[in-house]
Amino acid sequence: MFQKIGNIKICIEKDYEAMSLRAADIFADCVAQNSNGAYGFATGSTPVGMYKALVEKYKNGKLDFSQITTFNLDEYYPIKGDHDQSYRYFMEQNLFNHVNLDKSKINLLNGQAEDTILECKAYDHKIGIAGGITLQILGIGTNGHIGFNEPNDYFSGKTGIVDLTENTINDNARFFESRAQVPCQALSMGIGSIMSAKEILLLAAGANKSKIIADMLLGRVMPQVPASILQFHQHVTVVLDTPAAEDIRLMLGYQ
Ligand code: F6R
Repeated sequence: MFQKIGNIKICIEKDYEAMSLRAADIFADCVAQNSNGAYGFATGSTPVGMYKALVEKYKNGKLDFSQITTFNLDEYYPIKGDHDQSYRYFMEQNLFNHVNLDKSKINLLNGQAEDTILECKAYDHKIGIAGGITLQILGIGTNGHIGFNEPNDYFSGKTGIVDLTENTINDNARFFESRAQVPCQALSMGIGSIMSAKEILLLAAGANKSKIIADMLLGRVMPQVPASILQFHQHVTVVLDTPAAEDIRLMLGYQ
């Protein structure tokens, strides 16, 4: 059920629900082994089913969040924490309000920080104090971004403020009342911060992710496809639904 492309473990599930359950199992196994680890969370439409499955596991007594520390990947800038499109609000609605996390161990970038440089430095410092990220959850943009690290001519390092591309603003406009309301910037963990995670779990669902998944796994490692850097990480698992795996199936002849 798991295949390997280079260092990366690939798991192809039949549909979105199966992808979500598989990801939740991988997450829960990691927490069982590292009950006081630091876990990196992503937002967006892809991990919603996984968060739902994690809440179920908690309610069934199969997952304990009480000792873990959490760090979110990114946050729009500027945005109020209680805005219904802020990533803080997303995490509260999809996970934080439903499980036994210790509120003092939840870390999110502040989308209203006055001094963004200080905010980002302090965030990296807190990740360091927590001992680094044990498991980082990622989605992927149709342009290959991870976190909000957009295609560029260099790989970013630490957490910082970034400009969103037209592509990402267009992709994310579906969540806002109008395109004009999508913030043009974000605070995001950098590629370096992501690559420092001990383990990475990337999820992708839907036919619109199929091409970029193939570019990420089978293409050249280059900053124009930020996620391609994951080819250099030693412990990455990619969980896909069948439509997102279509291009790699065709290219590699998977059944
Ligand atoms: C969100 C994030 C982004 C998303 C990506 C995919 O925290 O970091 O990189 O993972 O934009 O978004 P969806 O899942 O909505 O397709």
